[in-house]
Amino acid sequence: MSGYRVAIVGATGRVGQEFLKILEERIFPISSLSLFASDKSAGKKVKYCGNEYTVQETTDDSFKDIDIAFFSAGTDISKHFAPIAARSGAVVIDNSAAWRQDPEVPLVVPEINPEDISLHKGIIANPNCSTIQMVVALYPLHKVNPIKRLVITTLQAVSGTGLPAINELNNQVKQYVAGDTITSAVYPHQIAFNPIPEIDVFLDSGYTKEEQKMVDETHKIMHAYDIKVSATCVRVPVFACHSEAVSVEFTNPIEPARVREILETAPGVIVQDDVSTHTYPLAIDCAGKDASYVGRIRKDISCDNGIVMWIVSDNIRKGAALNAVQIGEYMIHNGMI
Ligand SMILES: NC(=O)c1ccc[n+]([C@@H]2O[C@H](COP(=O)([O-])OP(=O)(O)OC[C@H]3O[C@@H](n4cnc5c(N)ncnc54)[C@H](OP(=O)(O)O)[C@@H]3O)[C@@H](O)[C@H]2O)c1
Repeated sequence: MSGYRVAIVGATGRVGQEFLKILEERIFPISSLSLFASDKSAGKKVKYCGNEYTVQETTDDSFKDIDIAFFSAGTDISKHFAPIAARSGAVVIDNSAAWRQDPEVPLVVPEINPEDISLHKGIIANPNCSTIQMVVALYPLHKVNPIKRLVITTLQAVSGTGLPAINELNNQVKQYVAGDTITSAVYPHQIAFNPIPEIDVFLDSGYTKEEQKMVDETHKIMHAYDIKVSATCVRVPVFACHSEAVSVEFTNPIEPARVREILETAPGVIVQDDVSTHTYPLAIDCAGKDASYVGRIRKDISCDNGIVMWIVSDNIRKGAALNAVQIGEYMIHNGMI
């Protein structure tokens, strides 16, 4: 095999599994593949391109012969192992929140700020899933008519909390149908049939960390620190795809037809917007797809120069693994690795 020596840290997790699928689908040039997880998964067998690979425990010595390391094993693991991997000569593309606000670490969505990749010092951060799908749709509009303010409500799938949360929703639905007592371990409340307005920890501001990420990451990715952002992030009993209602206030007037026209040619965006046929993006349709889907584009009647839209995308694909793989592909195609 010719190509790059690739590692996945967190290979047994929900995002790790999607990494394997996407690398295979996109025929990522891999000469050797190393799969890492915790000690409890060491020895597990995982298939990639018809071959069987053995999962290894992640240790300080894991990164000696690695060119690209995709990390999706949580913030603490990234904080410890990403600098070790970078010092060993690998480029780390990290899915956790560990490095996103570090001024030395680029935070990249390839459709928006690929030029930031060249500033990396060994670690590149992949943004939060709810931010990625939104900025892919907003940035092409911002370039034409600068955005002043965003008011966002997210409806986020349980897959955003990983495999244990997917199992929890499955189990609770079965318990509910059987009339049994519903047990919760991952979330602070029952998630089956019950939206929970709490994602990540609460901050002194009354917002959650997930909501604050949407502010900080939108600013950093779009290089637009003046945009005012207020988000309410809600976990909903949906397995795949985050859905978002976004109110956008622009600097100048803009018609919904013009917004549709811009988004119809925007990279990574698909417009599905015909209310006469009940056509708008739905989580069940967008699961397993790559784009950010946009619909319900209309004037915001509560402010001047406002537009409201509905944005749906697969949080595990564009919101996590796909965006990271696209960063790797960009580096390869531009001779950066
Ligand atoms: N899901 C999303 O929508 C999404 C989106 C963006 C970013 N992310 C980020 O991606 C990361 C993983 O998310 P996920 O949804 O895939 O979670 P997950 O399904 O719970 O998987 C967690 C992975 O981390 C591994 N891990 C745990 N402890 C470890 C250790 N001590 N050393 C090495 N590996 C360890 C697990 O290995 P074992 O199987 O051995 O425990 C597993 O492979 C998180 O940082 C998350 O914030 C997720």
